[in-house]
Amino acid sequence: MFEYLKGRRVLVTGHTGFCGSWLSLWLKHLGAEVYGLSREPHTTPNLHSLLDVWNDKNSFIGDIGFSGVVGPVMENVKPEIVFHLAAQPIVRQSYVDPIENYRSNVMGTAEVLEAIRQSDSVKAAVMVTTDKVYHNREWIHPYRETDRLGGKDPYSASKAACELVINSYIDTMLDKSKTLCASARGGNIIGGGDWSADRLIPDIVQAVSADTPLIIRNPAATRPWQHVLALCHGYVQLAETLFKGDASKSGSWNFGPIDETAISTLQIVDAFGKYWKKPKVDIQGSPLHEAQRLALDSSKARIDLKWTPAWSTQEGIAKTVEWYKEYHHSGKDMQAFCEKQIIEYQKTLKLNSKIAGT
Ligand SMILES: NC(=O)c1ccc[n+]([C@@H]2O[C@H](COP(=O)([O-])OP(=O)(O)OC[C@H]3O[C@@H](n4cnc5c(N)ncnc54)[C@H](O)[C@@H]3O)[C@@H](O)[C@H]2O)c1
Repeated sequence: MFEYLKGRRVLVTGHTGFCGSWLSLWLKHLGAEVYGLSREPHTTPNLHSLLDVWNDKNSFIGDIGFSGVVGPVMENVKPEIVFHLAAQPIVRQSYVDPIENYRSNVMGTAEVLEAIRQSDSVKAAVMVTTDKVYHNREWIHPYRETDRLGGKDPYSASKAACELVINSYIDTMLDKSKTLCASARGGNIIGGGDWSADRLIPDIVQAVSADTPLIIRNPAATRPWQHVLALCHGYVQLAETLFKGDASKSGSWNFGPIDETAISTLQIVDAFGKYWKKPKVDIQGSPLHEAQRLALDSSKARIDLKWTPAWSTQEGIAKTVEWYKEYHHSGKDMQAFCEKQIIEYQKTLKLNSKIAGT
């Protein structure tokens, strides 16, 4: 499985964050030589510090929104593959400090791409954006990669702007014979080890464990929810095609749940209650704009990349609850627990591809 990663030098930006921690651990597990570049972890606790992946030689701390930060790291590491995840990822925070949001997300992405362009080593780059890059018309239809970009809130607008920057580099500035690049647009991500503010799962875990009410602003809002390993699986599979030189895989890719369903905030709370405990819900409105409906059409990834996530949204919720229960009840070796879930995910993946004959 993903043999191409064995011994490869891989740089993950955003390695101190939730998704970057899972991705880095999985890459290490697959035999890659992993390096990271990010700011310091921004929550206590955080998954990054619970994992024994990082040391002074492979973890670089810096702000990618400023020039002169990414280039020297790229020169030092000489990665063959780059996964760019570092970003300000929270819609409500983007209203608090829109300038910092644009600097980290748009300038940060441009800085990473420019460093890739200057490097002699990078063969494949996966740039992570989001499902929120689409001009949201509150459609019931899932969005496709060919739909118009847009974004009303500063986070969505910044990620749509990243898409333009990425496409400009792909179309005019990266030498395709040397480096292939693509963007990955994933849905809302769940999984153990996320303690970010203003995110549903961390808020539910906090409410359940402290027995306090869960404040919800947008109970009926629907999103394509999926487990972090399903997303990492998509990123790694996309990187493989790029690394092997398939230029047709440059461009943008949606990565959404298996059945393309988007489920509501309250449905997530109910599902969480099924596996653990349902918190008391306190519904409070918000004057800040957030989209109501959002679903992703991932048929391009399913057909052209042969990516099929091993876990459904429901299974993803069950695995997420399992993780937090373990953390709250024993709290001991969460690295071993993450590895156990990675192995379970890989096993299901292998079984599914055997059944499908691929
Ligand atoms: N979590 C989700 O539901 C979700 C959904 C779709 C897309 N994404 C995207 O996935 C990526 C990872 O998200 P996450 O959930 O792990 O977020 P996170 O907040 O847990 O991690 C963000 C990471 O980016 C780093 N970072 C932020 N600004 C930086 C800067 N200026 N310079 C250097 N590092 C910086 C942080 O230090 C951290 O390592 C982001 O690009 C996000 O937009 C996340």
